[in-house]
Amino acid sequence: MSSTSANRPIGIFDSGIGGLSVLAALRAELPHERFLYFSDAGHAPYGERGGDFVAARSRAIARGLVQARGIKALVVACNTATAAAIHDLRGDWPELPLIGVEPALKPAATLTRTGHIGVLATRGTLASAKFRALHDSQTPLARFHLIACDGLASAIERDDAAQIDALAARYLRALGPLGARAGQIDTVVLGCTHYPFALATLRRHAGPDVRLIDTGAPVAQQTRRLLAARGALHEGPGALTLETSGPPEAIQAAAARWLGVRSEHGLG
Ligand code: DGL
Repeated sequence: MSSTSANRPIGIFDSGIGGLSVLAALRAELPHERFLYFSDAGHAPYGERGGDFVAARSRAIARGLVQARGIKALVVACNTATAAAIHDLRGDWPELPLIGVEPALKPAATLTRTGHIGVLATRGTLASAKFRALHDSQTPLARFHLIACDGLASAIERDDAAQIDALAARYLRALGPLGARAGQIDTVVLGCTHYPFALATLRRHAGPDVRLIDTGAPVAQQTRRLLAARGALHEGPGALTLETSGPPEAIQAAAARWLGVRSEHGLG
């Protein structure tokens, strides 16, 4: 790939602000890259919409990012969109480095000591064939307790602290007994990229003996590997552009709060 290609941005999208938790890891791993983040808040939440809708949105967003914006790689920073659309996206753009996210069942299975793992994710992710295959591949190693967290991503998107607190308490309780003792769930997978933004609340309700894990860092490492293999790593100054199909203030405020940055270009 030419240096002009290396200069092109990495596209990243989510239904809203959740993918910023992945973007934080990407910026730490690849500080010289130019990132173009698209929040599809005008069509959120994805998790309660059904796979066909999410696949259609994902393909339209990818088309816009590739054709109009010339991205050199695409990070699908949404578990629900990855489950619904990564296969279609690979078919649409066979040459494009594509990185998806999936709930961290494999890391959790190596970390648990009690053999009981909780998985918090959207209804769409848990209902997908992709998740089912992942789950079935790991069930010999541990027992997974799955909870569809309706409304939690939306509450995080709205920054509704009371609702986040109520739903975090309800869904963690629904998982079953939490803790480090035999028979208890000692590891909880945050299977939606919004949930790391509720980490403090989730931790408070889960208690000190439970490990909460997400997927930002491994996704960032995989992105570096794919770009390095193509000679497409950027060496100049990094940059961030934020775009959205929803209200611009929401994504700007979330980026300022969670990443400590503002978009360096106007919102499209
Ligand atoms: N952040 C998304 C995920 O990782 C989905 C949130 C939503 O329901 O829109 O699954």
